[in-house]
Amino acid sequence: MFGRRTGKRAAQDAKIAGLEQQLAEQKALVAQLSAQLAVAGGRSRVPADALPDGFDPAIYLAFNPDVAAAGVDPGEHYLSSGQQQGRIYAASYAQDGLITIHNSDFRDDPDFRRAYARGLEASDGMEYNWHWRVHVGLWAARAAAHLPGDFVECGVNKGFLSSAIMTDLDWNTRGKVFWLLDTFTGLDLSGVSSEDADPGAVDRNRTHFESGLYTNDVEAVRRNFAQWRNVEIVQGTVPGTLAQITSDRIAFASIDMNSAPPEVAAMEFLWPRLVPGAMVVFDDYAYYDCPAQYAALKDFARRCGTAILSLPTGQGLMVRPPID
Ligand SMILES: C[S@@+](CC[C@H](N)C(=O)[O-])C[C@H]1O[C@@H](n2cnc3c(N)ncnc32)[C@H](O)[C@@H]1O
Repeated sequence: MFGRRTGKRAAQDAKIAGLEQQLAEQKALVAQLSAQLAVAGGRSRVPADALPDGFDPAIYLAFNPDVAAAGVDPGEHYLSSGQQQGRIYAASYAQDGLITIHNSDFRDDPDFRRAYARGLEASDGMEYNWHWRVHVGLWAARAAAHLPGDFVECGVNKGFLSSAIMTDLDWNTRGKVFWLLDTFTGLDLSGVSSEDADPGAVDRNRTHFESGLYTNDVEAVRRNFAQWRNVEIVQGTVPGTLAQITSDRIAFASIDMNSAPPEVAAMEFLWPRLVPGAMVVFDDYAYYDCPAQYAALKDFARRCGTAILSLPTGQGLMVRPPID
């Protein structure tokens, strides 16, 4: 009996041991999967204060694919060997659809900061986090300031970029006119910007008004620009309003109407007026959700015998060639 009980007990013990073994294996599996998930999500078990300032586990994995492939904890890897190997662990710029480890020191430049802050003020403090795009706009405007000819922006909204440019160039000292064209009522749905011609534009327009990104308060826009002379605010729909630009020499244009048809129409008007070396910045040329602008403007540039440079910011940059 005792022997039989012992045998039964032994069998039960063995069963329990087997279940415990299974449980331990499952726990180990769960722990391993959790660790892998943490790694895949760019997290680390290492406390942040043990790692250098700005250490970003996701960036560490993105820029060190061998570490990602090994499935190890990014923080532990950095401390055990990555630090000694001088591995990249932080981006210099990660916003507005752009992540890079390259130099973005322009952000610390006092002139840039002043200009950007004035842009921010123009847009009621609404921060788009588009520092690199503004950096491009300011660079192009500075280059164009040395050329004969006036400045144009088609798609002004509250005037973020144009205010930043006028601040940076100390506009009242320049003797140039800045033409600022906008409906100040958003996309003109009755005109060339039909949904057929530019899929997605209508939805984007509605969202931008709902979020407060777009303005229809033209008087507030006028007040924003009141500190500068030689500013011509033209309210209405491009292309209908283009003829109000009386300058026959244009050195700089910012094209930012978030819609292909008026942008091409603006370029057709401006092209013969652009002085050699004139700078044109297209805000959305290479932007991820603007394929219509990309196709239409690329075709326009090809017809003019030139090309638009796609920028990693999502912008496009065109320099008017010296000869046709
Ligand atoms: C993205 S916002 C411009 C942002 C501006 N560049 C800035 O620095 O803040 C686009 C603007 O284009 C304007 N717009 C759209 N279609 C237009 C058209 N056919 N004619 C004139 N303005 C237009 C809208 O009213 C809107 O204010």
